[in-house]
Parts: sequence; structure tokens; C-alpha cells
Amino acid sequence: MMTQEMQKPETSPKKSPEIFAELILDDMAAVTDFAARFAPLLIVGDIVALDGGLGAGKTALCRAIIQALGYKGDVPSPTFNLVQIYDPSPKSLRENPNVPTIWHMDLYRLEHPEEAFELGIEDAFDTAVSLIEWPSKLGPHLPTGFLTLRLEICAITNQNNTENNTARKLSFIGDMAWRERLKTDFKEDFLS
Ligand SMILES: Nc1ncnc2c1ncn2[C@@H]1O[C@H](COP(=O)(O)OP(=O)(O)OP(=O)(O)O)[C@@H](O)[C@H]1O
Ligand SMILES: [Mg+2]
Repeated sequence: MMTQEMQKPETSPKKSPEIFAELILDDMAAVTDFAARFAPLLIVGDIVALDGGLGAGKTALCRAIIQALGYKGDVPSPTFNLVQIYDPSPKSLRENPNVPTIWHMDLYRLEHPEEAFELGIEDAFDTAVSLIEWPSKLGPHLPTGFLTLRLEICAITNQNNTENNTARKLSFIGDMAWRERLKTDFKEDFLS
């Protein structure tokens, strides 16, 4: 039988990934700029968990990432149907044969983690990039090795000394593999 002591490492601070990079998104233009840098780094199998309260900017960031990958149509919030799938256009595939399919999910309305299987999440994990709002709703079914992008509304003072109360702080939380993958393109945002 497993003792309490033996179970401990699962939650030990050493194992839980920490914030390794941070940046400020002053406005929606900054969100678009960030997405243009970040989206090309995504590959099939990646899971990006969008963390942040109501209105933090999760959908806006997902939309910018999807558009940065060349998707030209509407990118509605998946609030009601929970999943929207974006296949690359023939044009973007000609330009980059590796451009991934994106599954954009908003799991806020999921009542039980098991319901996610009816949405086909395993297909997403195997064949696409998954952008997941409210990832905690997956409970134990969220695979390990995901990157968390945490958004928080914050106030900043602009260069001309005016207050901007609608900026977002974006924090990156993930394992060593994610640090390695992002350290070249986001070097200046790394905390250490
Ligand atoms: N960096 C930013 N600067 C200014 N406004 C922003 C920024 N990011 C998002 N917004 C705005 O914040 C509002 C809420 O954004 P969004 O719908 O993306 O939030 P959300 O986290 O997806 O909310 P929900 O929890 O309801 O799904 C939108 O009007 C969006 O344009
Ligand atoms: Mg949303």
C-alpha cells in the first residue's frame, strides 16, 4: 500500500514548474506582435493552457495565435461549442508544410472531465496544437508537458506618464523542455 510519504513527490515544489518568463502586453497590438513571435514555434502535439480569470484575454490571445498561423476567417470564442478546429489553408501549407492544425477549446462549460473525450481531445493531442482555455476542467486528463500562458490584467505607466489600466501581464510556466524551446526567441523575457 502506498503511504502518504510515498505520494508526496507528486506535489513537491521541485516538480511543479515555475514562472520562467514574463512580459507585458500593453494593448491588442502587443498581443498580435507576441502571437507573431510565438505561433511559429508551435508543433503538433503541443498543449498550451491559457490561465486567467474571466476577461483576462485568453480568447484574444488564442485568436491572435490562430491568425498568426495564416487563418483568415472568423475566430469566434468557443464558449458554446467548446471546440473550434482550424485546419491550415492550402496556401499556408504551400508556404510552410509544417503549419499545424489548431484546436481552440474553451472548457468553462465542461461539467465533468470525462466529457472532454466526447469532444475528441485525444485527436487534438495526437494530431494538432491544442489551445485550451479553462484547462483545469480537464482534471486528470490534461497530459503532462503542457505550457501554461497565464494572463492577468495589470496597470502600467506609459512612457508619456499616462496610466494604462488594461494592460496584461503574460507569464510562462512550463518544464525544462519548454524553457529550452523558448529561450532563443524570448530571451529578454526570461526571469533568470
Ligand atoms: N493585452 C490587452 N490589452 C487590452 N485589451 C485586451 C488585451 N487582451 C485582451 N483584451 C480585451 O479584453 C477583453 C476580454 O478578452 P477575452 O475575451 O479574450 O478574455 P477571456 O480571458 O477569453 O475571457 P473568458 O474567460 O470570458 O473566456 C476583450 O475585449 C479583449 O479585446
Ligand atoms: Mg475566452
